[in-house]
This record gives sequence, structure tokens and C-alpha cells, in this order.
Amino acid sequence: MSDIIRLLPDSVANQIAAGEVIQRPASAVKELLENAIDAGATQIDLVVKDAGKTLVQVTDNGCGMSVTDARMAFERHATSKISSANDLFSIRTMGFRGEALASIAAIAHVEVRSRLTQEELGTCITIEGSAVKSQEVCQCPEGTTFMVKNLFYNVPARRRFLKSDNVELRHIMEEFQRVALAQPHIAFGMFNDRKPVFQLRPENLKQRIVALHGQSYNNRLLPVEQKMDTFVVSGFVGRPEYAKKIRGEQYFFVNKRFMKHAYLNHAVDSAFEELLPERAFPGYFLFIEIDPNEIDINIHPTKTEIKFQDERLMYSVIRSAVKSALGKFSITPSLEFNPEPSLDLRMPSASTPIRNPQIKFNPDYNPFESQKPEPTPREQSNRQNWEKLYSPPEEILPSQQTQAFATNATDDEPTGDQTFFQLHRTYILSQVKSGLMVIDQQKAHERILYDRYVELLSRRKAFSQQLLFPVTIALPPAEAGLMDEISEELRLLGFDIAPDGKHPFHFVVSGIPAGHPQNNIGTLLEGIVENYRTNLLELNLDKHNNLARALARNVAIKKGRPLHQPEMKALVEELFACKVPDLSIDGEPIIRIIATDKLMHESQPQS
Ligand SMILES: Nc1ncnc2c1ncn2[C@@H]1O[C@H](COP(=O)(O)OP(=O)(O)O)[C@@H](O)[C@H]1O
Ligand SMILES: [Mg+2]
Repeated sequence: MSDIIRLLPDSVANQIAAGEVIQRPASAVKELLENAIDAGATQIDLVVKDAGKTLVQVTDNGCGMSVTDARMAFERHATSKISSANDLFSIRTMGFRGEALASIAAIAHVEVRSRLTQEELGTCITIEGSAVKSQEVCQCPEGTTFMVKNLFYNVPARRRFLKSDNVELRHIMEEFQRVALAQPHIAFGMFNDRKPVFQLRPENLKQRIVALHGQSYNNRLLPVEQKMDTFVVSGFVGRPEYAKKIRGEQYFFVNKRFMKHAYLNHAVDSAFEELLPERAFPGYFLFIEIDPNEIDINIHPTKTEIKFQDERLMYSVIRSAVKSALGKFSITPSLEFNPEPSLDLRMPSASTPIRNPQIKFNPDYNPFESQKPEPTPREQSNRQNWEKLYSPPEEILPSQQTQAFATNATDDEPTGDQTFFQLHRTYILSQVKSGLMVIDQQKAHERILYDRYVELLSRRKAFSQQLLFPVTIALPPAEAGLMDEISEELRLLGFDIAPDGKHPFHFVVSGIPAGHPQNNIGTLLEGIVENYRTNLLELNLDKHNNLARALARNVAIKKGRPLHQPEMKALVEELFACKVPDLSIDGEPIIRIIATDKLMHESQPQS
């Protein structure tokens, strides 16, 4: 057989190498912003068009490049930041690989204009697919502007793999926010399709966090500070009550470089232990300043991991620094000594007359107020099945039942006075024909609401209750952008919401879905948009499903909420009217039935 190995042409090799560094417009944004920081800029402006697919432009007022350097910068492994392998252990700059510009130039139309501080004229170079098209002297301000146009124009497969503009823009905003957070003393601007997204002046870290995440962060942050011999940990953690349901605002920076670190993340989580409900994640913005000798920055260009020489020390310092931050503000777990009202199962003694239990409940609360359409045949049959479930086992006569589980159920009215019990404010228990039925209250309510919202969205008409006093809410900028995308659907669900016209991230809510409690509207909407955003990144849902899910998650009765008889009854009835009453919106079981003869065995309950 003849020889078959060939060297790839440079252009192909460059494209392959570029794919490692530049995966999407956001990667180009990150590299260009970091170069501007390394150039000592104090003002950096990012302009994107079509979520970076048409244009990514970064302008800085940094040191600029000489005519030769401007040309050299595009060569692979060309860098001014290190000159020997030893330098790898004392890196203070963001870049050091000398690959970014070469990669970008291989897969886009690039134009750079740069002028050194002391020079009168600058230089302008255009490059397409690694080939220099022109280089000339030009008039330009001090510093550098990179324009990256038509990313992946010569790699159609990559271009096809790009996500929608909204998703790509979010990736860009994420990179932008990481860089801007790490460098609060630098002024940043970001423009998307000519509209300003951020205008950040030089400020301190707290001001920068607030500028990026919204005014509400002003009183959410607790300062963290711990000085050690070889490193310093500083920054802020979010107050526990503002923990999010998704891993959102969790930032570690090491020498101003963003990193992900599962082990150290655990250190923060564990400092919050007992202060947070399950499935809630604390927010943090933590900075580690350390001698570069003590760390190993991953050599891979897109990885965000960093290794520490003494990881365990780092873990315990972070944990104790966060704990003491929480402690200083006397946020310690408060133990609840209130008895569970629903677990008061004392049997009446012979001397006390048996009275019907008195129920106290909030008459205004009705989580199920809705404009339900006529039940479908499927729903009707579910309801009937449920009713069958409740008819008492034939061999037990009503008179033999204990008071605790008493039902007046007759064949005619099997569900009438069914008694429900709440266990640990989490599960609804009740007797059914074959044994004990256990329902997860939160999952059940999520299912009910989800079905209702999907229905509302498809019918395109919802009932809204107008607020007497419209509420203005401020969303974190990353989420404010999403509001435009879902405002039509929110209207279909009954929200009356519009931009306030003055501040780009503020919205005025003047109506909410009928039957919804009027308090905490800001938190509710923030939660919805936040959920919607994660669903978008993690699940492949269409808009309606995504939104219905996000809303159901946020509105549903949570674990830990005490429920009264009528609420439990309504919840169970509504659940059985759902098309799929037994599966949660995540596909987990909502209902379990433990057969009477299994109750005293340890075996797994059968559902
Ligand atoms: N905005 C800028 N201002 C001044 N010099 C720059 C700028 N961007 C890039 N350079 C120069 O181009 C070189 C190559 O950049 P890059 O390919 O990103 O590699 P690296 O940042 O790893 O050195 C840098 O080392 C720097 O000297
Ligand atoms: Mg670089």
C-alpha cells in the first residue's frame, strides 16, 4: 500500500487549532476583553451585532501596538507576556498562550487599528482567514480596536452549530460580566445592536456587583475578608434568604481570573449549611489573591480550572471566612420549636366528648382559584378513579374506624369528609382503599399549576387582576434582556407588565394573574425569569412549556408550608383532575400508595 499520511495545509490546521480556542462569539469576546485588560486599559467598550455573529468589536485605551507588533500579534504562539517556560509560574496577565488572535484571524474577517501612546499615527491591518489583506498607516485614537466580523464565515459547520441569538448573547453577557466583575476599577461599556446594555464607571466591587446585578443587591451582600501569609480571600457572599434555586451568581476569581472549582464551591456551600433550604444555592463573589507560584493555571485555553498547591488549606480558610461573615451579621440557624399542627394526633379520652375538629384557616387564601375549562373525558375518568380509590375497604365498617381516620364516606359520596394529614409540612397523607396514600405537596401543586398555565397559554386569554399600586421591579441585567422575549407570554398568563421607560432593567407591573397573592411580585418575577433562563440553557423546551414550568416552580406551595384541611382537599382534588396526576413536571412520582399489609414491613412501598 502506498503512503497515505499527508500534512494538512496551514489554512486547515489553523482552523482546527482555532476551534479549540474560539467556540462561539462569546469566546472571541473573552479573549479580546482580556487582551485589553493586559494592555492596561482604563476604558474598554464592547460592541456586538447579531449576538456577535456579524460583529464583535472591542476598543481599549491601553498601550497600543507598534507596526511590527500589530502584525506579529496574529502569528500563532506570538505573545509579549511570557518568554520562557519558567514564566508560566509567575503569570500575572490574563493571556500568555499567544493563540487567541491567530485563532480569531483564521476563522473571521478581522480588522485592527492600533496606536502606541507616544506615536502620532497608528496602523491598520485587515486579515481574512489568516491571510493579511492590507496593512497601512492610519489615524486612530491611542489604544487598540479589534473588529471581528463574520465569525466562522469559512467554517460553515461551526456556524450552523451556533445557537439562537438570544442564547449566544447570553453567553457573551456572561463573559462580559465575569471580566467586568473582576476589574471594577476599569470602565466598561457594552452595546448590542447599537443599544447600550451596560455603562460601567470605575467603582468598587460592591458598586460593580450592584451595577451588574441590580439595585436589590445593595442589601443582599455580606463582606468576606481573610488574610493569610500566602494569600488573601475577599469579596462578598449573598445573604442566605436570597439564595437562588439555581446555581446563579457564584463567582470565584483567582488573581482576577474567573475559575470554576467544585471543591471550593463546596467550602462555601458547607459554610451556609443549615441556613439554606434544600435545592437553594448561595450567591458569592469571592476573590483569591495568591502568589502565582502557588497555583497551576490550566494550560487548556478554554478551561476555567485552576489548581492550588494546598487545596485543603484553601478550603478551610474559605469556609471559615464565609462562616464568620455570616456570623458577624448574626445570621445563625434559628431552630423552630413550633409543634407541627398537623401532627397532633392525640386520641380523645373516654371522658371528653368527641367534637368535630375546628379548623382555622385563611379564608382569603385560595391557591386554586382559576377559570377552569370543562374537564376533558380523561380528566373526568381520573377523578372517578380517584373517587374509587377512596371508598373504604369493604371489610371495614365505618363504625370500626378510628376517629383519627374517620371518614363519613358512603358509596354515594366517597370523598365528602375525607380527612387529610400533613407530615413534616411536606406530604399529604390519607387513607385509600388499599392502604395509605402519600402525596408530595410541592410536586403536586407544581403539576396542577403547570397544566393550568399550559392551558392558559394555549387558550390565549387569561384573567388579570389590576394592582391598586403598580410595582416597579428591577431585574438583573442578564435577566432583563429575557423579559422582552417572554413578555407576550407573561401577558397571556395574566401579567400586565411593561418597561418603565427610564431605566433599561426596570419594569412596571400593574396586573398579575387573577387569584395570585399580591405580595413579593418582584421576587416572583425574578424567580420566573431566572428559572426560564436555566431551562433555556439546560432543557430543550419550547417557550410555552418553559414558561409554564418556570411559573409553576415559583408559584407552587413549597415544602415546609403548613396546609389546612380545605387546602389539602382542594390540592388533592385538583391533582386528580390533571391529565397526569402521578408524575411531577420533572417526571418523578408525586403519589405513593403503601398497601395496608406492607405498612409494618420495611420493604419499599409500592406505588
Ligand atoms: N488590545 C491590545 N492592546 C495591545 N496589545 C495587544 C492587544 N491585544 C493583543 N495584543 C498583543 O498581541 C499579543 C497576542 O495576543 P493573543 O493572541 O491574545 O495572545 P496572548 O494574550 O496570550 O499573549 C499579545 O501578547 C499582545 O502583545
Ligand atoms: Mg490574549
